[in-house]
Amino acid sequence: MPNSLFRKKPLQRILEDAKQDGGDGHAGSLKKVLGVKDLTSMGIAAVIGAGIFSTIGTAAFNGGPAISLLFVITAVTCGFSALCYAEFASRVPIAGSAYTYAYVSFGELIAWIIGWALILEYAIGNIVVAISWSGYFNNLLEGFGLHLPAWLTADPGTAKGAYQQVQEAIAAGTPLTPSLQFAKDAWETAPIIAGYHIFINVPAFAIVCFIAVLTYIGIKESKKTTNFLVVFKIIVILFVIVIGFFFVEPNNWSPFMPNGFEGVLRGVSAVFYAYIGFDAISTTAEECKNPQRDLPRGMMYSLVICTVLYVLIAFVLTGMVPFTTLKVADPLAFVFDSVGQEWISYIVSVSAVVATTSVLLVFQLGQPRIWMSMSRDGLLPKKFASIHPKYQTPWFSTIVTGFLVAIPSLFMESGLMTDLTSIGTLFAFVLVSGGVLMLPRITGDNPGQVGKFRLPYINGRFIVPVLFLIFVYFLGDRIINSLKNIGTSLQHIADGGLQEILFLIFGALAATLTVLTALRKYNVIPILGVLFCAYLLTEIPALSWLYFLGWMAIGLSIYFSYGYFKSKLAKGN
Ligand code: ALA
Repeated sequence: MPNSLFRKKPLQRILEDAKQDGGDGHAGSLKKVLGVKDLTSMGIAAVIGAGIFSTIGTAAFNGGPAISLLFVITAVTCGFSALCYAEFASRVPIAGSAYTYAYVSFGELIAWIIGWALILEYAIGNIVVAISWSGYFNNLLEGFGLHLPAWLTADPGTAKGAYQQVQEAIAAGTPLTPSLQFAKDAWETAPIIAGYHIFINVPAFAIVCFIAVLTYIGIKESKKTTNFLVVFKIIVILFVIVIGFFFVEPNNWSPFMPNGFEGVLRGVSAVFYAYIGFDAISTTAEECKNPQRDLPRGMMYSLVICTVLYVLIAFVLTGMVPFTTLKVADPLAFVFDSVGQEWISYIVSVSAVVATTSVLLVFQLGQPRIWMSMSRDGLLPKKFASIHPKYQTPWFSTIVTGFLVAIPSLFMESGLMTDLTSIGTLFAFVLVSGGVLMLPRITGDNPGQVGKFRLPYINGRFIVPVLFLIFVYFLGDRIINSLKNIGTSLQHIADGGLQEILFLIFGALAATLTVLTALRKYNVIPILGVLFCAYLLTEIPALSWLYFLGWMAIGLSIYFSYGYFKSKLAKGN
C-alpha cells in the first residue's frame, strides 16, 4: 500500500491522456483559443479584486506606509512560486495546475491532497469574492436610489454581529452611527421563521449563477468578457493612481513604519490574498495555442503588472490620508470621500464591481478544469471530465462548481473563508515549488520533457545556508522560547499554541532544506519558494488551521474510499 499511495504519473502518459476523450466518449479536446495577451489578461483578471479594494485597508492600518514594502516582499515570494509554476506549466501543459504537477513529482496521494486544497483557493475563494461583489453592488444601487431589502443582501452571521454592536452601543448610551442604525433597521425588519431572523445574500448568489452560465457556454465568450473587464479595470486603477497623487500629503508618509516591521508583517495574509490568482491561468493549459511558451510569460507578466499597480496604490492610499483612518472595508473609495471627491469614490465602486466580477470569472473557469484532470485520472467519477459536445466546456464540473460557490454565498461570512483560501493556496505553492526539485533533470536528449521555459539555475549550496544563519540570528530567541514552551503550546493549541508549533515545524523544515541544499546543490528559487510560503502559512490563525485540517480529513476519506481503488494508475498496475 505505501508504494501505491505515491504512484506517479509519467509525463508522457499525462500528455497522451489529455489527447484522448473527455471520459464519456465525446471527443475531448478543448478549444485552443488563448494567446499570451489573453493569458496575461486572465492573470490580471484573477489577481486584482477584493484584495486591493478591501483587505489592503486593514493591512495599511497595521503597517503604515511601509505596507508598500510588504507588497514588494509578497510579490517576490509569489514570484518564486510563479517561476516554479512556469517551469511545470512549460513541461506539463495540461489543465489541472498544481494538482497535475504534484501527480508528476510527488505521486497520487499528494496530488489528491493538492487537488482538494485547490478547491479552497478556487471555489471557497470565490465565495469571498462574491460576498465582496455584493457589497459594492449594493453601494452602486444605493447611488441610483434603489434599495434592496437589507435582509436580502447580507449573511446571518454578519447581520447578527452588527446587531450585537447596536445593542452594545444602546447599552452604553452612545448615539447610533448611520451604519449601526442601518443594522438595527435591517434586523428589525427581517422576516422571522421559527424564531430565526432570516438573512440571505441574494446578489452574491445571483452573480455566481450568472458567471456559471457564462463559463458553461464557452471559453471564447469568457475570454472576450475577461479581456474587456481587465482593460476597464486597469484604466480605472491608473486613473485612481494619477488623480490620487494630486491629493497626496507627503507628511502622511512619515513615520514610514509606525508599528515596526512586526506591524507590517501583520498584513501578510491580507496582502497575499491580493496576489492570489496568477496561478489560475495554468488551468487553461489545454485551451492555449502555445502553452509552453505563453503560460510562463502570461504568469510573469501579470504578476509584474499587478505588483507595480499595487505598490503605487499603496503609496497613494497612505499618502492621501493618515494610515490610522484606513481600517475600513472600502479603503479606495474611502480616501476619495475623505478628500471631498465623492464622484471618484463612485467610479471606484463601479470599478470594484468590475474587478471582482473578473476574479469570479477566472476562478469559476479554473475549478472545473482541475476536476476534469482529477476525473481523467480516475480519482473522481467520469462525469467530471465530460466535455459538452456543442460548447466544448467541462459542463458537469462547471455546474457543480456553480452550486458549490452559489449556495454558500447566500449565507456564509467572509472572514474564515478568506483564511481558508490563503491556506489552500499557500499549501499548493509550497508543493509546486518543492515539486520542481523532484522533476527529472532536463538533459537535452529527452525532448518529450523539454519545455520552452527554463527555470534559471542558481546554486543554493552557499546562499541557502547563509540565509538560514540570518534567520537564526534574527529569530534565535523565538526558536529557543518555542522549544522551551512546547508542552504549554500543545496544551493551548487553539490559543496561540498552534502558531508556536507551526513555527517550530517551519524551523525544522528550513534546517532540513538547508542541509539538503548544501549536499545536493539545489536551485535557490524553488527552495526559497517553499520557505517563504511555508513561513506565511505559520501566520494563519489557529482556528482556520483546524477547519483546514477538518477539510483535509474529509478529502482523505473520499480518496481512500473512492480514488485509491478507481485510479487509472491502480488499474494499470
Ligand atoms: N487576488 C484576488 C482578489 O484580490 C483573489 O480578489
